[in-house]
Amino acid sequence: MRAITIAEPGGPEQLVWAAVPDPVAGAGEVLIEVAATAVNRADILQRMGFYTPPPGASPYPGLECSGRVVEVGSGVTGFVVGDEVCALLSGGGYAQRVAVPAGQVAPLPEGMSLLHAGGLMETVCTVWSNVFMLAGLSAGETFLVHGGSSGIGTTAIQLAHQLGARVIVTAGTEAKLQACRDLGADLAVNYRDEDFVEQVRKATDGHGADVILDNMGAAYLDRNVQALAVNGRLMIIGLQGGVKGDVNLNTLLTKRASVTATTLRARPAREKAEIVAAARDAVWPLIEAGRFRVVVDRVLPVEQAAQAHRIVEESGHVGKVVLDVATGSGG
Ligand SMILES: NC(=O)c1ccc[n+]([C@@H]2O[C@H](COP(=O)([O-])OP(=O)(O)OC[C@H]3O[C@@H](n4cnc5c(N)ncnc54)[C@H](OP(=O)(O)O)[C@@H]3O)[C@@H](O)[C@H]2O)c1
Repeated sequence: MRAITIAEPGGPEQLVWAAVPDPVAGAGEVLIEVAATAVNRADILQRMGFYTPPPGASPYPGLECSGRVVEVGSGVTGFVVGDEVCALLSGGGYAQRVAVPAGQVAPLPEGMSLLHAGGLMETVCTVWSNVFMLAGLSAGETFLVHGGSSGIGTTAIQLAHQLGARVIVTAGTEAKLQACRDLGADLAVNYRDEDFVEQVRKATDGHGADVILDNMGAAYLDRNVQALAVNGRLMIIGLQGGVKGDVNLNTLLTKRASVTATTLRARPAREKAEIVAAARDAVWPLIEAGRFRVVVDRVLPVEQAAQAHRIVEESGHVGKVVLDVATGSGG
């Protein structure tokens, strides 16, 4: 098969569409012929040499895919050859074939194309596990998501809005703020020239945000804690603003608030399977009712993965940049 390999840690030009050995389905795994995958920020870090795949994971980038089952390993039930599926991967989505534990595979939601499903799993599982399973966001609460127009943000806005939360976002341009409003954000704050702490307080009559989903890490730590409500839950999933920050613990304890940081990729297969099952139960009905979609910025052939990385690095996108593997790979 062919896959996007990383020649050397570095820039997008290091991504090379090359012949590599075919994977096989091990015990408990299914082998998927990949139709589509999508770019996540972690792929960029991996390409630069800052994010080593966990032990046993494919060395090629790609944390999600859609496609067809072409082989079923021993002990797998629930999937047969020919099924159209999507999967949460630990790596290897930028390839014509990938082997994945069956618990991380879900049937294609009815009405969703394979191309769109290529960008479904990583953000849905990240948002569902953090915002709903861990932070327990509930209807009527206020939810703040930073980077509202990102793959994560566009997923989080829709799910929180559909499940009855009040949604506040930050983003960096007027066009992106509008895209967030169109997806259901009640308030969109321009992080370049507005103070989100002040805006959250004003919009909630001083209550604050019950749950915050954060991509900025250190740079926003103290301000996020200031923006939290009493009993608030700050969920850190990205470190775009650094890894070491100061926080006023007095504010945290007075509010009886919590700070949690997680990464999905490193979680064991058993936990990933629980997340996939929970996300499927909650989100597939929303997709099938037309209440949630993958926001696709554009689709590029997989050989143009370097160009896709440039777009995401420059933040030139809203939602997901999808890579077409089935038709984009020259067969
Ligand atoms: N821990 C996990 O398991 C996990 C899983 C998936 C993703 N993530 C993390 O989640 C984040 C989003 O991932 P993605 O793939 O969806 O990324 P993405 O589409 O590349 O989005 C990055 C976002 O960062 C925003 N941003 C940049 N500077 C900002 C600032 N000062 N304040 C607020 N937002 C700012 C950008 O907003 P503008 O474009 O408006 O500038 C953009 O929306 C990344 O940090 C990623 O590492 C974590």
